[in-house]
Amino acid sequence: MRKNIIAGNWKMNKTPQESTQLVEETLQLLAKENIGETIVIFCPPFIALERVAGLVKGKKNIFAAAQNCHWEKSGAYTGEVSAAMIKAAGAAYVIIGHSERRLYFNETNEQLAKKVNAVLAEGLQPIYCCGEPLEVREANKHFELVAQQIKEGLFHLSKDDFSKVVIAYEPVWAIGTGKVASDEQAQEIHAYIRKLITEKYDAATAANTTIQYGGSMKPSNAKGLMSQPDVDGGLIGGAALVAADFVGIIKSA
Ligand code: PGA
Repeated sequence: MRKNIIAGNWKMNKTPQESTQLVEETLQLLAKENIGETIVIFCPPFIALERVAGLVKGKKNIFAAAQNCHWEKSGAYTGEVSAAMIKAAGAAYVIIGHSERRLYFNETNEQLAKKVNAVLAEGLQPIYCCGEPLEVREANKHFELVAQQIKEGLFHLSKDDFSKVVIAYEPVWAIGTGKVASDEQAQEIHAYIRKLITEKYDAATAANTTIQYGGSMKPSNAKGLMSQPDVDGGLIGGAALVAADFVGIIKSA
């Protein structure tokens, strides 16, 4: 059965030194809690990835992730980092297609499909992001857009490969805005995504897929969102930068 996954996406925050501090503080708080089978992931900037992976190495259900990768293994791609390098740094997951990458770096579903392939080829797991901007929701076209993101980015995969994918639904209008989707809005679209997976693969594959919610998740709203039947954890931005808040969310999973 699928697991709840709480991932802290630090974005372009924290130096290597600050990353060590934040992970150590979070681990100290976590040590006092019983978080059951919940998986916890830290997603620091590349420059701190190896050290964060080292800090969580061997810890049950705690992993490091990169926030992006290139689809080639190596080569003349100045400024880029490959999935092979991320694996060598000790990470287990890679966020692919975050809305900030789609928006500010013009990443397309076609490119993201190649990144997903590169991640899987290294034996890592992609956390594939989808979600609609405000104008798309207001035009009631969010189901269509999310379906397109999922189909074009993921549905070329075999069932076996797809079973390693984590999906994060993140409505763009809720990211960093303090405006969170209601529990019902989140449940509605998560159930829709699960239906798409059933149609493409089968019900068992859909039931086993972790679908996280992301967008202004905080300790105060985490419980309501994650108690929805199809919401399996969260991709957390701002609140993951404060150890007590991140742990507060993890406890709600
Ligand atoms: P937020 O970011 O929690 O700060 O809204 C979530 C995300 O972008 O993954």
